[in-house]
Amino acid sequence: MPDDAAAQREFEARIAAGETVEPKDWMPERYRKQLIRMMSQHAHSEIVGMLPEGNWITRAPTLRRKMGLLAKVQDEAGHGLYIYCGAETLGVSRAELIDQLLTGKAKYASIFNYPTLTWADIGAIGWFVDGAAIVNQTMLAKASYGPYARAMIRICKEENFHKRQGYEIMATLAAGTPAQKRMAQDAVDRWWWPSLMMFGPSDKDSPNSAELTRWGVKRKSNDELRQRFVNLTVAQARAIDLTLPDPALRYDEATKDWHFGPIDWAEFDRVIHGDGPLNRERLAARNEAHASGAWVREAAAAYAAKRAAESGGSAAAA
Ligand code: 3HC
Repeated sequence: MPDDAAAQREFEARIAAGETVEPKDWMPERYRKQLIRMMSQHAHSEIVGMLPEGNWITRAPTLRRKMGLLAKVQDEAGHGLYIYCGAETLGVSRAELIDQLLTGKAKYASIFNYPTLTWADIGAIGWFVDGAAIVNQTMLAKASYGPYARAMIRICKEENFHKRQGYEIMATLAAGTPAQKRMAQDAVDRWWWPSLMMFGPSDKDSPNSAELTRWGVKRKSNDELRQRFVNLTVAQARAIDLTLPDPALRYDEATKDWHFGPIDWAEFDRVIHGDGPLNRERLAARNEAHASGAWVREAAAAYAAKRAAESGGSAAAA
């Protein structure tokens, strides 16, 4: 049944006035669907993102590094839970969202399909991946959908710790032995371009951005956020004497932007459509974890049913 035209006009006026949309408010079906798509993929990204980093918890070089990485990976699980809960306020079940991930129907951030080959990758992920996420999520903290925007506020605070611990790892390695510096530079070389892809396709190729922008979900475009990330990161790389793998990088005095070279959109398309370096392994790991956690879900459901029966029984007796 088509949305009520008057309600649609009122909704558009609310968005134009900068109002926040709450779960019980009327919203266009497209708005709801777009938010479920975006929020669930964001939540999936947080959960799948635990895999590449979890790979190094047992091999962290010091107890301090291990504690920092453990805390970060635990945070990411929490971020996933916040955003899944936010998506559920739109009338979709957690089980349905998880099934979409496990069956490959839903996307998650392409960046997590790349391997973590050395300890320096953990530094590059914190610095680049969480750094890019902060740029994106700081914008989403002003999104028109209340539960999503509010989730971003706490998540951004934790991401700042994630980025700082990653940058410190890279600064330490870059100032270390020649072999450590080479390891850091190799990680920069492998993670830089896939990190730029986190912001999505260029604006002209983005099928969702126009609608998301009109409805105040995206306050800045994919290209604007990507440019902001590059502008922030060039100085950070120079400060620790690491080189970003882009010979085309050059500063534009007029715009104050760092112009960068072409992104390999063919690689991006391959990775987001399941053909990246580790897509199959990531999905297999999530399916295995889901299967081995079935007993926890069954026990929790049995406990909830028992408690419901008990309270139902005591209510009848009262
Ligand atoms: N990885 C996988 N898929 C991507 C992608 C990426 N980096 N960038 C774009 N896509 C997909 C989109 O999902 C869309 O496909 P779909 O229509 O089937 O969903 C298609 O490519 C076209 O892209 P659009 O720009 O039209 O899509 P969006 O308007 O949704 O923009 C986005 C893409 C910028 C990723 C946006 O969805 C977004 O901001 N999402 C919320 C933030 C998020 O998901 N961040 C994940 C980072 S990981 C993370 O935060 C963990 C932290 O701990 C590091």
